[in-house]
Amino acid sequence: MNEKNILLCVSGGIAVYKAADLTSKLVQSGFSVKVIMSSSAVKFVAPLTFQALSRNEVHTDTFTENDPSVIAHIDLADWADLVLVVPATANMIGKLANGIADDMISTTLLATTAPVWIAPAMNVHMYNHPAVQKNIQTLLEFGVRMIEPGSGYLACGYTGKGRLEEPAVILEKVKAFFSPGNSVLKNRTVLITAGPTKERLDPVRYFTNRSSGKMGYALAEQAALMGANVILISGTDILPDPKNVTCIHVESAEDMYQEVMKHADAADIIIKSAAVADYRPKQVLDSKMKKSADQIIVELEKTTDILFELGKRKKHQFIIGFAAETNHVDEYAKEKLKRKNADMIVANNVTLKGAGFEGDTNIVTIYHKDGTAKELPLMSKTDTAKEILREAALKLGERKT
Ligand code: PMT
Repeated sequence: MNEKNILLCVSGGIAVYKAADLTSKLVQSGFSVKVIMSSSAVKFVAPLTFQALSRNEVHTDTFTENDPSVIAHIDLADWADLVLVVPATANMIGKLANGIADDMISTTLLATTAPVWIAPAMNVHMYNHPAVQKNIQTLLEFGVRMIEPGSGYLACGYTGKGRLEEPAVILEKVKAFFSPGNSVLKNRTVLITAGPTKERLDPVRYFTNRSSGKMGYALAEQAALMGANVILISGTDILPDPKNVTCIHVESAEDMYQEVMKHADAADIIIKSAAVADYRPKQVLDSKMKKSADQIIVELEKTTDILFELGKRKKHQFIIGFAAETNHVDEYAKEKLKRKNADMIVANNVTLKGAGFEGDTNIVTIYHKDGTAKELPLMSKTDTAKEILREAALKLGERKT
């Protein structure tokens, strides 16, 4: 965890004392921690406590610029690998959900491109208030991750949901986030499909699509680097087999279906990034079709929907489907997630420049079963693969705990 930077944003509530404990635990685990406190937070615990625990200056005011060579809130926003808002008050959640930047924390939160996690802590009625719930939902849609509050005795005297998650549990989630390969994917079996399928019409002709296999191969490479046992079922021969990956080459949707089913039971994660043909010629000719009529009609029949079959038989497997769409991306992706009983759908709008087929980059949105979605910017297929695996590892880690 040595090179990972955690920016801890402490907003004001009685649970601030737990944030001090979290600071200590993060530092002891080898993270670099910098702290910003709201004006309310400093009324509960003095900044000096956090300074001593983090061994870094604590920021409380946007306009206190101690280092003239940088602008503090931008510098902190850029420095962070992960931003934690612990505890996250109703007020701070509301500010972030509505783009308000009127203090050091809210301004920094708008300026950062690092992942942001909020750990709410408040009175049960405040937590259940529709305004707070709506703001939390907005943040989830922005890609902010929530560390759910627990239920129990609250400092205000009530019993109910609103207790800050225990620092030890938050620490475990942070560690898992930075080491998904070590803690979650290591020694897991990951089954990945990649590339197009080819559906033969006769010995010299087939129907296929534009998939190069690059997205699936990037996933296989990264999963192997994270310590997983990777089986790649590929519809292309053009790319070199990735290192430390068992590669099985197939041609048609039916071949791919057979191979996937052979390995599905042993897999912990299945990723269907292949662009599988939905239809194939009903009749495959033994000899080359001769040119004669001006027009011909080729009758097509449906192939087996491999992802759908996997969803039907799912036991312990975490299943990730893809959705290559040209319109209504959000609607179609959510529909596929549900109908195919997947745990995650990675949707790409293949009409966007830099997204989808053939190129080295992609732009995807990851849809989870719990209704949350994470939109990723344009990035290399390698980085996209890392993010997809990280999301899967996080979800699997949560399942375990
Ligand atoms: O290979 P690249 O050039 O790098 O391009 C990457 C990609 C665009 C192919 C990839 O990012 C992608 O979107 N893959 C899925 C393409 C696709 O077939 O999407 P779909 O929306 O038609 O299918 C939905 C899901 O069902 C997919 O997970 C697909 O693998 C699966 N499916 C579809 C049909 C079928 N008969 N069996 C299936 O399992």
